[in-house]
Amino acid sequence: MTARRIYLDYNASTPIDPAVAAAMRPFLDGRYGNPSSGHWASIEAKAALEKARGQVAASLQCADDEIVFTSGGSEANNLALKGVFFALRDKGDHIITTAIEHPAIIEPCRFVERLGAQVTYLPVDDTGRVDPTDLRRAITPRTILVTIMHANNEVGTIEPIAECARIARERGVLFHTDAAQSVGKISTDVTELGVDLLSIAGHKVYAPKGVGALFVRRGVRLEPLIHGAGHEAGRRAGTESALLAVALGTACERARDLAPMDRVRTLRDHFWQELQKSFGNRIALNGHPTHRLPNTLNISFIGRIGAEILARLDGVAASTGSACHAGRIELSPVLQAMGVTPEIGMGAIRFSLGRATTREEIDEAVERLTEIFAKAE
Ligand SMILES: Cc1ncc(COP(=O)(O)O)c(C=O)c1O
Repeated sequence: MTARRIYLDYNASTPIDPAVAAAMRPFLDGRYGNPSSGHWASIEAKAALEKARGQVAASLQCADDEIVFTSGGSEANNLALKGVFFALRDKGDHIITTAIEHPAIIEPCRFVERLGAQVTYLPVDDTGRVDPTDLRRAITPRTILVTIMHANNEVGTIEPIAECARIARERGVLFHTDAAQSVGKISTDVTELGVDLLSIAGHKVYAPKGVGALFVRRGVRLEPLIHGAGHEAGRRAGTESALLAVALGTACERARDLAPMDRVRTLRDHFWQELQKSFGNRIALNGHPTHRLPNTLNISFIGRIGAEILARLDGVAASTGSACHAGRIELSPVLQAMGVTPEIGMGAIRFSLGRATTREEIDEAVERLTEIFAKAE
């Protein structure tokens, strides 16, 4: 008998919210106009695009013209990092980031290094947090950008962004944060955070894959990655998809309500408590105990291999390491940077809960995990 499917991998991707799908529908069935044309068919597409831009902006508390639609979190990160590098390379060549960023930041950093940039990878402590003092020390007169993720995708640790952004601002350095994992889970108000650039990814927030956005504070100069007919105020060429923009806008509007996260946090904590009852000191928590996304539970089964446990956890979707490069049996770079030993780190599994997660699902996941170990012992 196949076991009931339980989805606990919301940090990898979320289902499309029915309200998002409903908002998209008219753009699948008709409303095909190009938002940039000047005739009747473009009017509703343009209006929908701009309404969506406003919804995304409202969720970040910024102005509408500070939002650039992209194809997702990776493109938003690439645009921020390479866009600043290419625009400011006469001013400086030094970029500061952390050792625990998503590959969508690490790889653009490697790319600009090949073009002559100097990149500093700040360390993190054993909970995955950056020390703002390290940032203060790392800034030089040649620093043009600091990029530190808002919350880590693997362990959920929330970084001290407001403090780090303040340090960058005092030194006249631009600050970017990758908020792909934080929108809809914790506040992403760009004024409170004090950032100049912020990336979001639609499919982490109940919109489809293939859409995202970059917040670009007014006055920040960016070289576009895609040159063309001047769409998105010259920052990203290519005919805008009203279909995908509407999806992201609707999803962001819904994400402003953080109240559902209280229930998710309670469930996540219940999950952890139940696992502790079953496994005691045979498991360890990875990430910060409190400065952590409310939906994320990364635990290690000490002395085990996370991928092997998951393979036997019939029907339960979760991740070992980051979903974007799952499948390789080696300690994730994030856990390595946190100084987690291989004995603990190799047994790591990331469970990430979402709006639709139920208590029954959590209890069943605990039961299935307990059964696996009972059989093995
Ligand atoms: C922190 C973080 N940044 C960026 C991305 C990439 O976003 P996208 O898949 O939309 O390109 C992800 C996706 O896993 C992520 O978790």
